[in-house]
Amino acid sequence: MKIDIFTLFPEWFGWLSRERHVANVLARGSEIECVDFRRYTPLSGGQVDDTPFGGGAGMVLRVDVIDAALRGHYGVEPVELRSRRRVIALAPAGRLLDEALVNELAAEPALTLLCGRYEGFDERILENFASDVVSIGRYVLSGGEPAAMVICDAVLRKLPGALGDERSAGEESFSEALEGNPEYPHYTRPAEYRGWTVPEVLLSGHHERIEQWRRERSRERGGRRDR
Ligand code: ADE
Repeated sequence: MKIDIFTLFPEWFGWLSRERHVANVLARGSEIECVDFRRYTPLSGGQVDDTPFGGGAGMVLRVDVIDAALRGHYGVEPVELRSRRRVIALAPAGRLLDEALVNELAAEPALTLLCGRYEGFDERILENFASDVVSIGRYVLSGGEPAAMVICDAVLRKLPGALGDERSAGEESFSEALEGNPEYPHYTRPAEYRGWTVPEVLLSGHHERIEQWRRERSRERGGRRDR
């Protein structure tokens, strides 16, 4: 998996590459590359944004700047790029990221993430360069960078070798193994703390009953979406 992140803040992503499960997949040949929009801007003084036509607060990322960045980095006509790889613009009103979309993205060989800033993107960027517009939730961040990090984290941990124990990805919240439900509760030592006890069944060593208890708790949580 090769993930290219176009951003005004490439240095923010350093920690992500050092994070354990991300480092694990990078060591196995995956790659994260950050591209600074300013590196390719055709405008003077590193300008990348402008005031919105029609007035209003904030600044909008310019279509000519994104065109130049994609063309400069990939050496192809940016309009053609999205037929070769997913080009994902991050914006609050996009398709909501969920486990199904994460799985879809994890199956791709390469992704391009475009981080908006300020008031976001000139609409022509979304119309002509992006294959997808993705949101991590219905709230407004100061920019797409945290959303890009969320996508990298969620997608890369799906890849072989990311997690120490391969079983932990198979049976986790929203997985097929749990019928799309949230994960069951976990407990560890001590078995009793301040009078708070662990469900008996988990201490029983009876694997079938434990399995059944876990399925039931998971389904229960699935029916109660607010927690
Ligand atoms: N950029 C600003 N807010 C965002 C959000 N909620 N999701 C994705 N990108 C964003």
